[in-house]
Amino acid sequence: MRLPGLIDPHVHMREPGASHKEDWATGSAAALAGGFTQVLAMPNTHPAIVDEPSLGQAYQLAGKKARCDYGQYMGAGLDNVREVSTCAEKCVGLKLYLDQTYGPLRLDEMSDWLAHFKGWPKNRPLVVHAEGRTLAAAILMAAITDRSLHLAHVSTREEILLIRAAKKRGLKITCEVTPHHLFLTAGDLPGGRGEGRPRLQTQKDVNALWENLDVIDCFATDHAPHTWEEKKQTDSPPGFPGLETALPLFLTAVSEGRLRLDDLVPRLSSNTRRIFGVPVQPETWVEVDLDATASITAAMMFSKAGWTPFEGLQTRGVILKVVLRGISVFEDGQVLAPPGSGRLIRQDLV
Ligand code: DOR
Ligand code: ZN
Repeated sequence: MRLPGLIDPHVHMREPGASHKEDWATGSAAALAGGFTQVLAMPNTHPAIVDEPSLGQAYQLAGKKARCDYGQYMGAGLDNVREVSTCAEKCVGLKLYLDQTYGPLRLDEMSDWLAHFKGWPKNRPLVVHAEGRTLAAAILMAAITDRSLHLAHVSTREEILLIRAAKKRGLKITCEVTPHHLFLTAGDLPGGRGEGRPRLQTQKDVNALWENLDVIDCFATDHAPHTWEEKKQTDSPPGFPGLETALPLFLTAVSEGRLRLDDLVPRLSSNTRRIFGVPVQPETWVEVDLDATASITAAMMFSKAGWTPFEGLQTRGVILKVVLRGISVFEDGQVLAPPGSGRLIRQDLV
């Protein structure tokens, strides 16, 4: 059966600065192999994407290597409110890191958050990494500034229930959940392999996410590749590769009756398109066999991460082919799109 080309609003492509973990050629190959034809890249690179020159550099790198369509977020810093807002139409959104994570972009002071909440145009996506009580504070700030806000990788029961209450109140809040927070719990993976931000949570949290599916606007992989060498260490960097495994995992949930296709497809395409203003790609689709089975293994993957937290998992639902603008870009396990064939989302504006 045919699904639309999928959109991932949350990936880390590691260029510039850490191309041993991933680069645009490998990361976008992983995207296509997973059915994602449009990806939105996070700004916590080295250097971080915080001004016009670094945005330009990111676009140059992606332009040469990306095989799928791509957009780039900018990162909120201590003194770049004006700079990022002048670039608002050239990027896909502004990301605020309000809690501890990988990279240099954390903002501690609420007055700094507020400056960005006020300065960033109201019609452009604003995304926060905010956990627990920080998430509550971010929702309050969206209410005070009367603006929309997208909450990245929601992972706990208390968060999803708070978001339900905020939505019920009419606040302009949207949110995403990752496959790893839906399919894994703390303790499933030994040592550094299980490190992620937000952390993997309890079964109670996982159950609450599934029970409150109607509150979840999109699924996002938070594809955060770190190499196997790095993840083997006990003090490993946080994050999981996820582009190639997301759709097979979700289709398996469909085959088990835990999820309906009607619940899945909008969260991987139309809802995401609407929230982030991502353009439609003509003649673009993903051909899947819902009954075929496979097992997840790092050996089949295109990401430089070289490992997966879902190793050995049996899945039902296989991606046969991906067509982008009428051209087959993934077929029989091979990525066919060359580096540089992907297009910049919002190219019209740059
Ligand atoms: O686990 C994570 N890894 N969470 C983040 O927020 C950042 C990401 C990364 O860039 O590795
Ligand atoms: Zn992330």
